[in-house]
Amino acid sequence: MNHDMSRTWIVSAALPVHYQVRVVNGVFDPHNRALLEAGATQQTGTLRRLVVIDSAVDRLYGVQLRQYLQHHGVKHQIISLPISETEKTMDSVFAVVKGINEFGISRRHEPIIAIGGGVLMDIVGLAASLYRRSTPYVRVPTTLIGLVDAGVGAKTGVNHSAHKNRLGTYFPAKDTLLDRCFLKTVDRRHIVNGLAEILKIALIKDRALFELLDRHGPTLIEERLQGRTPESNQAANQVIERAITGMLEELELNLWEQKLERVVDYGHSFSPTVEMLALPELLHGEAVNIDMALTTLLSVQRGLITPGERDRIFGLMRKLELPIYHRHCEPEVLVEALADTIRHRDGLQRLPLAMGIGSACFVNDVRPEELVAAATTLREMDSGSELMREAANA
Ligand SMILES: NC(=O)c1ccc[n+]([C@@H]2O[C@H](COP(=O)([O-])OP(=O)(O)OC[C@H]3O[C@@H](n4cnc5c(N)ncnc54)[C@H](O)[C@@H]3O)[C@@H](O)[C@H]2O)c1
Repeated sequence: MNHDMSRTWIVSAALPVHYQVRVVNGVFDPHNRALLEAGATQQTGTLRRLVVIDSAVDRLYGVQLRQYLQHHGVKHQIISLPISETEKTMDSVFAVVKGINEFGISRRHEPIIAIGGGVLMDIVGLAASLYRRSTPYVRVPTTLIGLVDAGVGAKTGVNHSAHKNRLGTYFPAKDTLLDRCFLKTVDRRHIVNGLAEILKIALIKDRALFELLDRHGPTLIEERLQGRTPESNQAANQVIERAITGMLEELELNLWEQKLERVVDYGHSFSPTVEMLALPELLHGEAVNIDMALTTLLSVQRGLITPGERDRIFGLMRKLELPIYHRHCEPEVLVEALADTIRHRDGLQRLPLAMGIGSACFVNDVRPEELVAAATTLREMDSGSELMREAANA
């Protein structure tokens, strides 16, 4: 008889993922039932919803939201959460959890509704994924980054101990309702911030999107993508649609990021460190753009981008009013940022670099000297354009 008790049990299970992202115009229009139906399995009886909303968005749209919920007889509680990148912490997640406890929700029939930008949605998404190990939620993004990036993927997260999004999960919302009307109240800088993530998709995989941004970028900023003319309306629609399609094409095949070579990491290799160091001075998209400016120069140094293409890329960054440099782009910071990224990418740089405009490759052999050279050129370009700006204003 064999008395050896060492045994191995192998458990293997697959978790299907199904979620939707859809354009809905007029989310708070009383005739529009999308918000009531989003993510819900039960459509009859009294509806109950816990809504978590960015307090700035609440000030602007809270009356409409309450009228909508009252009109449909929804029993509700609204948590108005003050948010900022520095308050993107576990404390904010706990505040949401407290609200869920107090309201008490049926996990199957009463999805939490998150209304706000990337910060609010990342916080609520994390709270929902932790609460009883998963509670469905619905997203209504209200910023451009929210519409094209934070609102469409699977990631949740908060910052921790000076590290960007250090604590997080993969937990997509069941449904995301995209209504670009919210952008009409977003300030110029945050529109520009969102355009940086759109530019990322253009640079690594969609040349037509680059051309659209090049042609319509300033109008899109001026009009907050509200489409005041048929032409600019079409451009705004196309830009948002192409950005989301491009993003989702990349995410869907690699939702859990098992493959560590991700083109959508473009602009996200050095920026996490620079953004956290510069907090609250730099916005996420601004830091991403600085990273893209730096890596554009790395590409130029390696002959992957021609000087002509470089000029077009920097010309568009300027048109989109995006910064290309920050004083924290010191060589030591960049080398440390790359080291952190290597840890995150399992020991290899796996650095996406643009090849021309609209495609990308990965490299693992960027040397510190290359970074120093690129950062030096970037600083010179930035101070050159600063001088030009001063001369123009004089
Ligand atoms: N989960 C993801 O996949 C993912 C992807 C990209 C970015 N992010 C995260 O998203 C965050 C950035 O998101 P963001 O740029 O939306 O920032 P944000 O959420 O801080 O919103 C920007 C500002 O706009 C205000 N605001 C929001 N909607 C408004 C509206 N309609 N009108 C007027 N003001 C409004 C907010 O109060 C805030 O002051 C970062 O923390 C980043 O890490 C997450």
